[in-house]
Amino acid sequence: MNTTTRADAGTGALADRFEASFGAAPHGVWAAPGRVNLIGEHTDYNEGFVLPFAIDKRARTAVRLRGDSSVRLLSTFGGQGLVEADADGLAPGTVKGWVKYPLGVVWALQQRGIDVPGFDLLLDSDVPLGAGLSSSHAIECAVVLALNELTGAGLTAEEMVMLTHHAENAFVGAPTGIMDQSASLRGASGHAVFLDCRDQSVELVPFRAQDAGLVLLVVDTKVAHSHADGGYASRRASCELGAEVLGVKALRDVTVADLEEAGGLLDPVTFRRVRHVVTENARVLRAVDTLRSHGPARIGHLLDASHASMRDDFEISCPELDLAVDTARGHGAIGARMTGGGFGGSAIALTPVRDERQVRDAVVRAFAEAGFTAPDIFTVTPAAGAERLS
Ligand code: GLA
Repeated sequence: MNTTTRADAGTGALADRFEASFGAAPHGVWAAPGRVNLIGEHTDYNEGFVLPFAIDKRARTAVRLRGDSSVRLLSTFGGQGLVEADADGLAPGTVKGWVKYPLGVVWALQQRGIDVPGFDLLLDSDVPLGAGLSSSHAIECAVVLALNELTGAGLTAEEMVMLTHHAENAFVGAPTGIMDQSASLRGASGHAVFLDCRDQSVELVPFRAQDAGLVLLVVDTKVAHSHADGGYASRRASCELGAEVLGVKALRDVTVADLEEAGGLLDPVTFRRVRHVVTENARVLRAVDTLRSHGPARIGHLLDASHASMRDDFEISCPELDLAVDTARGHGAIGARMTGGGFGGSAIALTPVRDERQVRDAVVRAFAEAGFTAPDIFTVTPAAGAERLS
């Protein structure tokens, strides 16, 4: 979280649009980024390690407190038009569409005993929706930052992480972990966020692909996914079962050396789920060490191994993600993997600058040949975490 104020291209336009819609200027404009995860997938709710970074795409929100309890919400990406709600009458399961994210934050603040008055809110975002880049957490983080400040709640970044986690799990109904909001609230330009999900400790690890002659490409497969659907929850349940059978608090407490014995105690499917989490935690630690000692050019094989583990052991990839990863690898990428919760969304490919065009063209061509929807391909760099813009 960055508390300094930095004007942003378009911030004034958002404030103007707010004023035109609601008849008065906003009390401020706040922004929070989406994320990619470099490595460490489905490890967060197992109290393990993750290495995401905040990307240069973000949600921005203009907010003005009102004198009553009415909440009026509008977005620039249309869909629902103006939505009105009563801040005092929110309950899980009663709200649909994008407004469940800001209203979930209001509800979670109230659950903590924080009084949230009515407000007007305008939301804008260039984080692609449903692409596995945490568009929903970007909204939640921008809103919690705004309301934390406007209500004087005084929550720390760690508390806001737990609050949005509660909003997401109990109000939105997606049983996700704490990685995405941690990257959004605690990210920093030029750095990946090495997060220990057991105690929320963070170390910022420099990640400057360009200094190593590399770019990090994102391939948005356009396969929509939702973590409120069954696949994510069933993987989480398998992990909990595995931890219970192995007699540990969380899979974080199982090491690679324990796996042989675990194989004799777990059913084959649960064993493969557990093996993914255990080996993925080890890969995150290796990636952090490697980044520190040798830089990004040496982490490629860890990205590849992470993808194979998600494809074969955790079984959360899909044909489009596999094709993106395999094609990128076959045309010059030094490492590639799906990123995020899986079942669709995006892949990342760490690619030498000189091969970028070739990788992009090859992936587009492969998708067309397979009859898949054309992917969106773009580069990302580690950007600032959530902050007030005006
Ligand atoms: C989603 C969730 C995260 C995390 C990832 C998988 O992005 O929101 O909490 O579990 O999936 O690593």
